[in-house]
Amino acid sequence: MRGMRVTIWDLRKMKERGEKIPMLTAYDYPTARFLDEAGIPAILVGDSLGMVVLGYESTVQVTMEDMLHHTKAVARGAKRALIIADMPFMSYHISPSQALENAARLVREGGAQAVKIEGGEEVAETAFKIVRSGIPVMGHIGFTPQSIHQLGGFKVVGKTREAAAKLLSDARALEEAGVFAVVLECVPAQLAELITQRLGIPTIGIGSGAGCDGQIQVVSDILGLYPDFVPKHAKQYFKMGEIIRKAAAEYIEEVKKGAFPTEKESFFIDEALLEGL
Ligand code: KIV
Repeated sequence: MRGMRVTIWDLRKMKERGEKIPMLTAYDYPTARFLDEAGIPAILVGDSLGMVVLGYESTVQVTMEDMLHHTKAVARGAKRALIIADMPFMSYHISPSQALENAARLVREGGAQAVKIEGGEEVAETAFKIVRSGIPVMGHIGFTPQSIHQLGGFKVVGKTREAAAKLLSDARALEEAGVFAVVLECVPAQLAELITQRLGIPTIGIGSGAGCDGQIQVVSDILGLYPDFVPKHAKQYFKMGEIIRKAAAEYIEEVKKGAFPTEKESFFIDEALLEGL
């Protein structure tokens, strides 16, 4: 990888070497820079930004303009990580030309190197067409948040034999369509491991156990930056929200009592310049 941009083929080689693939989401310039400097191989500009950054109720409200705005910021910050941008709800379902046009915008205007779409067999043809146009595609099966209303809420997917078989055939259809990796979200660990063994492309798990080739988490979840809830599959490495509250309370207090700013944070001129003003 030697300081150059990570490619989809580097991720494939990591699977072949049995090297785990850590991924995180990012939505802005500073976070992308910090993650890049920490050595993350791939960053997803997830449509989870709808909830964790924009305060929407679900990913269904996220637009192409939202995705472009945040993908551009991430692309300015991450110089080495592979940047994958989520295609938002209804940006790839209406027609193949709509899907191609929007995928191209995320790459050309946004600065991403790849896109992600949700769904199995039903989106395989769309994935195929985008890949054929030269844009790498990542799949996403299991719990697919853009279908929240159809699913009737959050669900672990693949708990019956029938559902497990469907997930395996979805994963195979996506691999055949040419996707370079597939996210398995909230899939039972043993099934995720089996899918991982059956595919040549990397599986990236979220809430799908340790048997996947890689893991992805929403950066706000692991940093404690999302105030509404912490998903069961997330580990909070830090409580950023508490640090922000504490720092803001200290700042408010210091401004009120005149303890901030001090001379150290101020700028001065020669007093003589003010005489007679
Ligand atoms: O939008 C997102 O952040 C995602 C990940 C949870 C995989 O799709």
